[in-house]
Formats: sequence, structure tokens, C-alpha cells
Amino acid sequence: MTDSPILITGGAGFIGSHLADALLAAGYRVRVLDNLSTGRRSNLALDNPRLELLEGDVADAALMRRAVAGCQAVAHLAAVASVQASVDDPVSTHQSNFIGTLNLCEAMREAGVRRVVFASSAAVYGNNGEGVAVREDTPKAPLTPYAADKLASEFYLDFYQRQHGLEPAIFRFFNIFGPRQDPSSPYSGVISIFTERAQAGTPIKVFGDGEQTRDFFYVADLVPLLVQALTNAQVQGGAVNVGHNQSISLNQLLDAIRGVLGSLPPVSHGEARPGDIRHSRADNGLLLERFLMPPATPLQVGLATLLGRA
Ligand code: NAD
Ligand code: UD1
Repeated sequence: MTDSPILITGGAGFIGSHLADALLAAGYRVRVLDNLSTGRRSNLALDNPRLELLEGDVADAALMRRAVAGCQAVAHLAAVASVQASVDDPVSTHQSNFIGTLNLCEAMREAGVRRVVFASSAAVYGNNGEGVAVREDTPKAPLTPYAADKLASEFYLDFYQRQHGLEPAIFRFFNIFGPRQDPSSPYSGVISIFTERAQAGTPIKVFGDGEQTRDFFYVADLVPLLVQALTNAQVQGGAVNVGHNQSISLNQLLDAIRGVLGSLPPVSHGEARPGDIRHSRADNGLLLERFLMPPATPLQVGLATLLGRA
């Protein structure tokens, strides 16, 4: 282990702050670049002298160069994580979700930093997973600016690998959930919203009939994969799905929350969101082949933790 820091863009957010905790616990120095748009200072152990926070935007090329300088590796997690936000405001989200990646590639090339772990998404497959688990080679069908920016970022990382020797480890996360996922906006992850409302007894709104499915993955099971990708001597090329090859519908998710709490507040249904994927389930064969997977946290256990009933 060298003493140079690992940069986490988006490190004050949900996934990034758990990664920061794990890296600090393993003895690494961590530098976080975050504009605190959805991330929070309170997610970070700012009293740890091995943690540094640079407040600013990944779309700022000069700041990105400063952030990358002297780092041993980068986890690029900064993005507007909401698919719906990209539908509503494609121009602004593109700055975070694509220009940030391009700025990072350039900064890494200039600084000679090679290893980068990138948070891509199941969204790149669009609806091509209808009824089946998607494999990494399933044709891509980005339905939204969010998905298009993730796929374009993958292609640029691939270019910088071939042309400039970057070592990208690309993960296509399916639906990650767990503590610190911020429920405070309508754009937030569905489990964070449903569990917060179920606990508070406030009405829950399902977009569409609730029969859309997702492959949910607990954040504590994701972090060791990210650490391996940052620190393994070698990375193999190509993107890797992160999911369990198990999906449930939103209606089943609500049943599971009711199972933990004993009851649910009123549930209503509205229009399905434009660009919303109907079915999403990961073929995770490549993940299991390439990485040491911790024992999976069952959905019920993850939900019970979030609902304070663990
Ligand atoms: P999050 O919103 O909690 O984290 C994103 C972080 O990036 C936040 O701290 C935010 O303040 C920061 N950020 C956003 N735009 C920025 C910018 N322009 N400059 C600097 N910082 C910026 O969301 P998350 O769920 O932790 O997502 C982390 C990454 O994983 C994102 O790239 C997201 O697209 C990707 N991802 C998440 C999921 C999921 O289910 N949560 C699934 C697939 C991919
Ligand atoms: C999520 C992630 C995205 C990631 C993708 C990978 C977030 C905010 N989004 O997108 O970053 O790339 O997984 O698969 O983390 N819904 C409701 N009611 C609500 C909120 C949501 O019915 O109050 C529905 C949505 O319409 C959707 C489902 O729940 O059908 C999941 O929504 P969401 O949690 O936003 O996730 P994805 O769009 O799958």
C-alpha cells in the first residue's frame, strides 16, 4: 500500500461515503471531490486526518486536475444518480454525468494515474432485460440521458485505456440500497423513499402498476468489490454487472416492508415514469468469476436494518 490517496468523486454521497469508510478502515488515505448536491458532510469522518474533502464540481476541469494529482487510484462515483432528473434536465445532468468523466480521463492521463473504478449502471441495457437476466454482452439500449451518459462514459474510458494506458474497472450497478441513501427528494432511490414513508406513516406513491422489477443489492456487499477493483494488481477489461440475479417487483417490495413493520401507510398509484425500465435483473456470472463476493445480505435483513428492526 502506498501513502498516496485514493480519490473518490462523489465520496460524500450514499455509496461513496461507505467506500470512504472502508478505505480509511483499511489504512488508506482518501480524498473526496464532491459538490454536496446530494452528498453530505455528515456522511464523512471529517475528523480523520487521512480524509480530505475538496468541495467542488467534476465539471470543473482545473479542480479535477488538482483532485487527481498525486493519487494512486480513483473511484469515479460522482453523478446525478436519478434517472428521472436526467429526463427533466438533460443539459445540467450531462455536465455531471458525462463531462465529469471526460475531465477525469484527461486529468488522469496528464497525471499518469491509471486505475479508475467507474460506477456505470444497469440503465445502459434499457428494456433488453425483459423476462431475462442481462449479460454484459446484452445489446445496449439507453432510454434516458442518464443511461446515454453512463454508456458514453464507458466508451470514453475504453478509449483512454487503449490510447493512454488507463486501467478502468467498470461496474454496472443494479439497484443499490442501504443506510445513507438520501430519501429527501422524489428523485431518491425507491427503497429509501418507501422505508422512510413506511416508518413515518406518510402515503406511498407507486409510479405505474408496481409490477416493474429490480435486482436490489445491499451497499455493504458492494463496497468490498469496489475496494478489490481499486487495489487488485490487475484489472481485466470490460464492464461487470453488480446484482444478484434475483429481482422483485415494487409490489413485492411493499409486501416485504409490511412484513417487517406489520403494516403500511396508504399506497396510491400514478403514471409510470417516462424512460422507466420495466424489468431489471443481472446475470452476475462474470462478477462471481472475477471478484470475491461477500455473503449476500438478504433483502429482508437490509430492510430491517433501514427500518430500525434489525
Ligand atoms: P448519491 O447521489 O448519494 O451520490 C452521488 C454523489 O455525487 C453525491 O455526493 C453528490 O453530491 C455528488 N455529485 C453529483 N454531481 C456532482 C458533480 N457535478 N460534481 C461533484 N460531485 C457531484 O448517489 P449514489 O447512489 O451513491 O450513486 C453513486 C454513483 O453510483 C453514481 O454515479 C450513480 O449514477 C451510480 N449508480 C448508483 C446506483 C444506485 O442504485 N444507487 C445504481 C447504478 C449506478
Ligand atoms: C436506480 C438508480 C440509478 C441506477 C439504476 C440502476 C437512484 C435514485 N437511481 O434507478 O442511479 O443507475 O437504479 O438500475 O439511485 N418509484 C416509485 N415511487 C417512488 C420512487 C420510485 O414507484 O417514490 C419507482 C420508479 O418509477 C422505478 C422504481 O421505483 O420504477 C425504481 O426507481 P429508482 O429507485 O429511482 O431507481 P431506478 O430508476 O431503477
